[in-house]
Amino acid sequence: MRRKLVAGNWKMHGSRRSNEDLLGAVREGVRSQHAECAVLVPAPFLAQAESLLSGSVVAWGAQNLSEHDAGAFTGEVSAAMLAEFGARYVIVGHSERRALFAESSKTVALKAQAAWRGGLVPVVCVGEQLDERESGITERVVEAQLEAVLATAGLGEQELVLAYEPVWAIGTGRTATPEQAQEVHAFIRALMARRLGSRAAEWRILYGGSVKAGNARALFSMPDVDGGLVGGASLQAGEFLEIVRAASVAA
Ligand code: 13P
Repeated sequence: MRRKLVAGNWKMHGSRRSNEDLLGAVREGVRSQHAECAVLVPAPFLAQAESLLSGSVVAWGAQNLSEHDAGAFTGEVSAAMLAEFGARYVIVGHSERRALFAESSKTVALKAQAAWRGGLVPVVCVGEQLDERESGITERVVEAQLEAVLATAGLGEQELVLAYEPVWAIGTGRTATPEQAQEVHAFIRALMARRLGSRAAEWRILYGGSVKAGNARALFSMPDVDGGLVGGASLQAGEFLEIVRAASVAA
């Protein structure tokens, strides 16, 4: 049985002062009987997340990493560095990185491999643009993004979390309906099953894109929606905790 996971993607938000309140409230609000919960913070705040969340049931992680392990790569951060600060998860291939930082599916695959080498769990994001959905090629787009990772990542025993994030639903307030999400999640699960057999049933597929307290429960009650990757709503403790509770009820 897959345990639901709610991960907050803070994106480029936060400050040492405001993080104290947010991390403190999340730490206090999440209980072991709830769904699994993680906060994915900007890299400079990992030490703060480690110090404020250690000993709690809340995990933490990062939003990006280098595909290289070390070397002359100015400005980059390696998996091992993230792991030194207790990071468990790292987002790979978020649509903002694909679109704004020209990350190809090949790079995404290399980053997933780097995460595994460093002992992290990659949260690999896939999702179609609005025009792609409207032209009826959602499944083709998602399949190509996933196949690129599967082809080079050579899946062994490593843990992987997938996130389906339709680009048109990110930060727009326009969420996919539970049925739209389920349709793509089931498609992804079937594709994984063809590649991995029964192991596909173990992997969590999160939904991301305007998840809020008000729509979380319906989304998470779908059989192949194993939790959420939450952007804007993860910056408000009350809203985020409601989403974690919704996942716990739906679990
Ligand atoms: P929003 O929840 O703000 O739409 O962002 C979703 C997202 O990009 C999570 O990675």
